[in-house]
Amino acid sequence: MILCANFKANKTRQETRAYMAVVESFVSANDISDTIIVFPPFTALDHDPRNVLIGVQNGYPVINGAYTGEIALEQLEEFGIRTILIGHSERRHVIGETQEQIAAKFQFFAEQGFVIVYCVGEPLSVREAGNDVMMGYIEQQFEGIDLSYPDLILAYEPVWAIGTGLTPSNEDIEALHSALRAKTSAPLLYGGSVKVENAGEIMALDNVDGVLVGSAALSANDFCDMIAQAAELNTEIGE
Ligand code: PGA
Repeated sequence: MILCANFKANKTRQETRAYMAVVESFVSANDISDTIIVFPPFTALDHDPRNVLIGVQNGYPVINGAYTGEIALEQLEEFGIRTILIGHSERRHVIGETQEQIAAKFQFFAEQGFVIVYCVGEPLSVREAGNDVMMGYIEQQFEGIDLSYPDLILAYEPVWAIGTGLTPSNEDIEALHSALRAKTSAPLLYGGSVKVENAGEIMALDNVDGVLVGSAALSANDFCDMIAQAAELNTEIGE
């Protein structure tokens, strides 16, 4: 399983340090073999991760240069960052990134060999318009994206489920993930209101290879609880 914690614009450097200490020691004490990725804000990237990967929530697709306010490859490399989140719904719908910008970012960081957690997902009105409209919408989010990129992790995050406490039914998650599985062999994460109470059941669904967690992962103990649930599932399926 792959479990990601996306902090968004939450937590200071000091809080992130305390968080990482809890998660690192949980992972090593419990011999966790799952992949754990934490995405702190840019200001809190200075860690020396042992069992947990640190990724960035964004990056500007250049090596360096005159791009006021942006963080480019050179600055990320200084922190040993090799993992990036691209296409998150808040960047698409709140910040206003276009598919063209997202695809350019994907291409640049793929050329650099980054692990890319690429997010797709539909707003509620699109889901309500029926399966064909929804799949057509998601298809557009694959424009310019290489679904055979070997270090791709694909996250399905319905926009209406992010930070709302709402989740699709297990059947709907399975249906969507099986459609994605037909397109790519990349690991498939589900994201959107994952929490301690539903993480285990979601991770047990067909074609769900992990979760991308926002608000519920802000508590290190809750995130560790979800990691423990993943480890339990591995035992059950004899991994
Ligand atoms: P949430 O966010 O878990 O708070 O719904 C998920 C995400 O935005 O990745």
